[in-house]
Amino acid sequence: MAVEQRNRLADSLARLGTETAFSVLARARALEREGRDIIHLEIGEPDFDTPAHICDAGAAAIHAGHTHYCPSAGLIELREAAAAYLTRTRGLPIRPEHVLVANGAKPFLFFGILATCNPGDEVIYPDPGFPIYESAIAWSGATPVALPLHEERDFVFDPGELEARLNARTKLVILNSPQNPTGGVASRADLAAAAGLIAETDAWVLSDEVYSEMLYEGEFASIASEPGMLERTILLDGFSKTFAMTGWRCGYAAVPEALVDPLVRFFVNSTSCVPPFVQLAGVAALQGPMDDVAAMMAEFRARRALVVEGLNALPGVTCRMPRGAFYAFPNVSDTGIGADELARRLLDEMGVAVLAGSAFGQVGRDNLRLSYANSQQNLTAALERMREFLAENAG
Ligand SMILES: Cc1ncc(COP(=O)(O)O)c(C=O)c1O
Repeated sequence: MAVEQRNRLADSLARLGTETAFSVLARARALEREGRDIIHLEIGEPDFDTPAHICDAGAAAIHAGHTHYCPSAGLIELREAAAAYLTRTRGLPIRPEHVLVANGAKPFLFFGILATCNPGDEVIYPDPGFPIYESAIAWSGATPVALPLHEERDFVFDPGELEARLNARTKLVILNSPQNPTGGVASRADLAAAAGLIAETDAWVLSDEVYSEMLYEGEFASIASEPGMLERTILLDGFSKTFAMTGWRCGYAAVPEALVDPLVRFFVNSTSCVPPFVQLAGVAALQGPMDDVAAMMAEFRARRALVVEGLNALPGVTCRMPRGAFYAFPNVSDTGIGADELARRLLDEMGVAVLAGSAFGQVGRDNLRLSYANSQQNLTAALERMREFLAENAG
């Protein structure tokens, strides 16, 4: 029976990974159903409501009848708005014909990799990094090549280590700044160095910039702005994080000419299109006031200070100051408890849901990821529970 069952599934499923945040969330919710009080620091989504003017635009579009199929590449209104936004924020001449719209940023990761990589190709990706990168690379049959992000470098790649991994088989380089799970932010100089190295190869670049507006210090830089890079870069952004729109499922990317048709074909074969009323809400987001985003970032900034200071005061825990996104990535190796075990026990024994760094690759295995998308009151309570746990258990 077991053998028959196995034979009915595709072998390729063995190569498909997952996102641990969703399984920890499911476990945390199960504990809540048993009556436990859980503080959620596991899931990577802003805890703010989508700004009202964006919701109004979406609702108005539904009532105006924008509820049917629409072009798979995206509505021209959103492609134009996104091109204007990317041109303004990246200082690049982005044309609407090069902008595509998908159901979140995620499809661009998956389909971008499938559209560019053959078995035997190598793909360089950040470790620790968003787990879907490695999953999609492995699914495509290409070889994942981890680029380590070290704590001593504030989780920004070392150009020398990038150089050591680039070769004639490198088909794609994935970069992500500001970064999930570390909050690391690459400087213009880091990206210029990377661009200089990549320019010597035939590799495509996938620059995941979904946290571009979530920066606490310094300036945002995109590798696409470096000489010769725009023509080979999938410049990826979306609505989920910046506008607290995770559930709307909408993202967009400026892609090189040669990738426009292949990516649209993936959309036609999978989701057909993004709901047009969602896209019209996206137009309102990109063209409307940014006050709500600024207010959200002011709150995240206060929480960042609270969380990082609180973590550094815990026995055996050290935490770098993240410069972007809304994650802290503390090192817990001096607690004497492995990070995987610590994450598990914090949830089971203290009701604090966090992720083990190993969910993001091998390099972060001594760390935890805390998403500070929760109230200052809950963050304070979570830190207190962690302090209590470590006071009893740290070695
Ligand atoms: C680095 C990174 N890229 C992409 C995504 C996916 O975002 P979306 O909701 O737009 O699919 C996430 C979500 O957590 C992320 O952290």
